Amino acid sequence: MHHRIALIPGDGIGPEVIAQAVRVVDALAKDGGFTVAWTTLDVGADRYLRDGATLPDEAFAFLRDESDAVLLGALGDPRVPSNVHARDILLGLRFRLDLYVNFRPVKLLDARFCPLKDKTPDDVDMVVFRENTEGLYTGIGGQFKRDTDDEVAIEAELNTRKGVERIIRAAFEYARAHGRGSVCMSDKSNAMRHGHDLWQRVFKIVAAEYPEIKSFHLFVDVLTMEMVRAPERFEVIVTNNLFGDIVTDLGAQIQGGIGLAASANVHPGKHALFEPVHGSAPELAGKGVANPLAAILTAGWMLEHLGHADCNARIHAAVTQALAAGDVTRELGGTLGTVEVADRVLARLV
Ligand code: IPM
Ligand code: MN
Repeated sequence: MHHRIALIPGDGIGPEVIAQAVRVVDALAKDGGFTVAWTTLDVGADRYLRDGATLPDEAFAFLRDESDAVLLGALGDPRVPSNVHARDILLGLRFRLDLYVNFRPVKLLDARFCPLKDKTPDDVDMVVFRENTEGLYTGIGGQFKRDTDDEVAIEAELNTRKGVERIIRAAFEYARAHGRGSVCMSDKSNAMRHGHDLWQRVFKIVAAEYPEIKSFHLFVDVLTMEMVRAPERFEVIVTNNLFGDIVTDLGAQIQGGIGLAASANVHPGKHALFEPVHGSAPELAGKGVANPLAAILTAGWMLEHLGHADCNARIHAAVTQALAAGDVTRELGGTLGTVEVADRVLARLV
């Protein structure tokens, strides 16, 4: 088996953590009987500052036609205060490749890193399916009488029947395929009576096709309370783009912090882009201290997507052992640098 993987190392700490993820994947490929061809794309802040290009056509065509997956570090650079390159690349790929599933696992690997009292890895083990192509992220809207006292700004929330149905279905399909017992849909239909009423109706219709899976609904404000009070209630959560953005940052914290949070942007059967949830942390860049574990865990999900679920399990086991041993960077209470943490994970890949 051969995989073509496009790399967008990104800005700040992105290239440092992605290099470690690449080492882990290469090690697994070697004894897993598959090969990986990496192609690094010249996009990111440096490229933008050089010639103004964010996601040029040839890069987009390469990602669309000549790669099996994309691995992205993080985007964001103080030299580009508008962050236009990050928006064009990350949001651009989500929309242009129609990556409608934003898959964000929230799994606590070691109780010591959980900020919630008395919660164990069994309690914090859920997956969020965030809708990734509509909602409040489309830029539909406008400004009127800008910079006057009468200014009006409208940001429209787009919810299509097709878009809502496919993300809800993806959540149920995942639950069925992975033996998860429930799916919770979260919206704000008590206040947003048009778009979120559509979510209510479609959720009931799709849920009826999966009678073996318990389905329930929480308003998003209640969901945030419940994720903190009783995370064990949740196995699969499905929600819209903005709510998913917010609850997955909450999820990142209850699983041990943003340094451990992985994510995937997927159009099932077509394209997939994998990225750690964390940002480019420019203040840490170049110092060799960034935590590579989120990038490594993200690479695990990429391998699972490419048909190597065994490799993802091995990565998760190795990272869990490294956490238990305290082989971590400073923000998790350790003393190791980026490369050393990856070394300790590599040494535990059995
Ligand atoms: C994320 C990020 C992005 C989002 C930003 C950078 C636009 O926060 O991937 O969660 O809101 O989707
Ligand atoms: Mn976010």
